Amino acid sequence: MVQQIHTLTADGVGLTVVVPGGGRLPRIVHWGADPGPGVPDAAYGLSALPLLPVQHEGWAGRPALSGDRDGRWQHVRLRLSEDVVLTDTTMVVRAHDEEAGVAVESTVELTPQGVVRMRHTLTNNGPGVWSVAGLRCLLPVPDNAVEKLDMTGRWSLERAPQRGVFGFGSHVRENRRGRTGHDSTLLLSVGTQGFSHRAGQVWSAHVGWSGNHEHTAERMPDSVAALGGGELLEPGEVRLAPGETYRTPTVYFAHSGEGLDGIRDRMHRLIRARANHPRTPRPVVLNTWEAVYFQHDLEKLKELADTAARVGVERFVLDDGWFRHRRHDRAGLGDWFVDETVWPNGLEPLVKHVHGLGMQFGLWFEPEMVNPDSDLFRAHPDWVLAMPGRLPAEFRNQHVLDVSNPDAYAYLLARITELVSSLGIDYIKWDHNRDIHEATSVHRQTLAVYELLRELKARFPALEIESCSSGGARVDLGILEHTDRVWTSDTNDPIDRQQIQLWTGLLLPPELLGAHVGPTRTHITKRVTNLHMRCATALFGHAGMETDLTELDGGEEELGLLTEWVALYKAKRALLHSGRVVVPDLADPSAVVHGIVSHDSTHALFSYAQITSTPANTPLRPDPFRLRLPGLDPDRSYRVEVVFGPHGGGHVPAAFDLADARWTGRALATIGLPLPRLNPADALVLELVA
Ligand code: DGJ
Repeated sequence: MVQQIHTLTADGVGLTVVVPGGGRLPRIVHWGADPGPGVPDAAYGLSALPLLPVQHEGWAGRPALSGDRDGRWQHVRLRLSEDVVLTDTTMVVRAHDEEAGVAVESTVELTPQGVVRMRHTLTNNGPGVWSVAGLRCLLPVPDNAVEKLDMTGRWSLERAPQRGVFGFGSHVRENRRGRTGHDSTLLLSVGTQGFSHRAGQVWSAHVGWSGNHEHTAERMPDSVAALGGGELLEPGEVRLAPGETYRTPTVYFAHSGEGLDGIRDRMHRLIRARANHPRTPRPVVLNTWEAVYFQHDLEKLKELADTAARVGVERFVLDDGWFRHRRHDRAGLGDWFVDETVWPNGLEPLVKHVHGLGMQFGLWFEPEMVNPDSDLFRAHPDWVLAMPGRLPAEFRNQHVLDVSNPDAYAYLLARITELVSSLGIDYIKWDHNRDIHEATSVHRQTLAVYELLRELKARFPALEIESCSSGGARVDLGILEHTDRVWTSDTNDPIDRQQIQLWTGLLLPPELLGAHVGPTRTHITKRVTNLHMRCATALFGHAGMETDLTELDGGEEELGLLTEWVALYKAKRALLHSGRVVVPDLADPSAVVHGIVSHDSTHALFSYAQITSTPANTPLRPDPFRLRLPGLDPDRSYRVEVVFGPHGGGHVPAAFDLADARWTGRALATIGLPLPRLNPADALVLELVA
């Protein structure tokens, strides 16, 4: 076959491949803006990235494929097994190395939202075991991608952006935590000089996997730069017997010509198009954790449920503490039977009460974990995920169960099934409160957990599941194939939450981000904030509350404001959970603005939060200032109104009576909306109607 050049296109994105002929694998010439028809059949192959770059292809970076057969065949030379299958939006490549006994099938798909989805499947066709060391999905990025951006974080402070120069060498973000991690990369992005929320070209990759994984951005002097990632495999973790296969996680690639907002838009549209995306209005949640912790008492919880129903809550979630021996976090994990000492009549009376109030009932589990002080551990110490005879160190007094052990799997499936069906549970908060250490195989564990979730969903199609992992340590598109929401962070401090939600929102749309209003004094940071700030923050997610509503500092007055806010959330959630997310580039580093614009541009909500005081050593005008609001239709005119906050009422002075004026989208984006600068730790919500 002679050289063939072909471009996959969708939604303004192009992926141009050259099939060099002579049995050689395709090379990727271009990934980015659609180059249009008529890409000349030039010698692009020389400056393109092989589909699976390895040493044989002249690639000096981390090989896309590595492994060995008993110390031999570490370097594989793949040749096409059949013609490359190319359509307008897909490429399927089947290749093999006869001598090494390895075959690989690669699928590259450009979705209608312009996101590239890639995965490889490797089969051992030779005699004996082939050990997979790594199999990565990579795409080329051009030489004007000179800056990089990814996330780090820690417990209760997830998704902190870090920025740097994308120079020569390998930028590798490895995760060996056995779960996605509080410090997960989320997306590894590279972009043109100074790319921002609204400007510049950006190329981003996300590995959809909840076990160990890696994201890489590599620039070698003699090749095009490559972006991507895959699962991180420990030595000997995947040993394929003859005929066995290993499949990589799906790696997602998004390109934007309009800054990070373009990445948000593509990823959100892709996620919303999934068959399993939650399509019912996202119910207002009351979670009991920070309201009562382990102090479970039927009468108290009924009173809490009554108050919750009064303010408009639609889903009541009973958190940790309901099962045998769980009077504190040192015992009980694994004993998934209702604790008879605390709940002499079982959970039925509470569930009935909650359902009777018209609310859904949710229950907390941490299925993958076990406390040494539990009946389960005493009966089955061998179910722990560990090397023979060597327990890993405890963390939060717990070990990890080997869910790939068929007996452990069957036990979990049976217990959860029994509780869900007998109680009529509508929702599970599925927690995972520790990293996995010294595991025999995180790979097998991750697949087993996915399978358990899949099987439960198959048994209970209406059951919703939240992915929680000591807050936001399991936020990825692998777990979201089986779950309906993430617990974004354990902190309910709105000051920290503004950033956490903003950056988690780079991947996930707001309806998947659990966001709760906590108490006046936040439990984790001890910071005192006003209720408007807390409510305005939680409004831009899947909203709820997590505090003892029966004992609010502000009593009835606070309940009144919460009721107003719940009504606002219910009235606006159709927009909040379907619109395009817009994040303006702000001159003031101490302010955060979240925007959501309907797809027909007729309706929008923006929140403006002042986190700290505007720095005095900047040329920023403190008060009044102009808030430039991009992302609206330039030619439409909008009525603007403050629909919530700021704190203290009477708030926005008459001189700013916004409702009297009309602004065009163009004027809002260029001149900006005149607003008084808010006090630190305050927020307001603007509604714009065309
Ligand atoms: C960690 C979670 O993130 C919290 O919300 C809570 O469910 C606790 N675990 C319970 O142990």
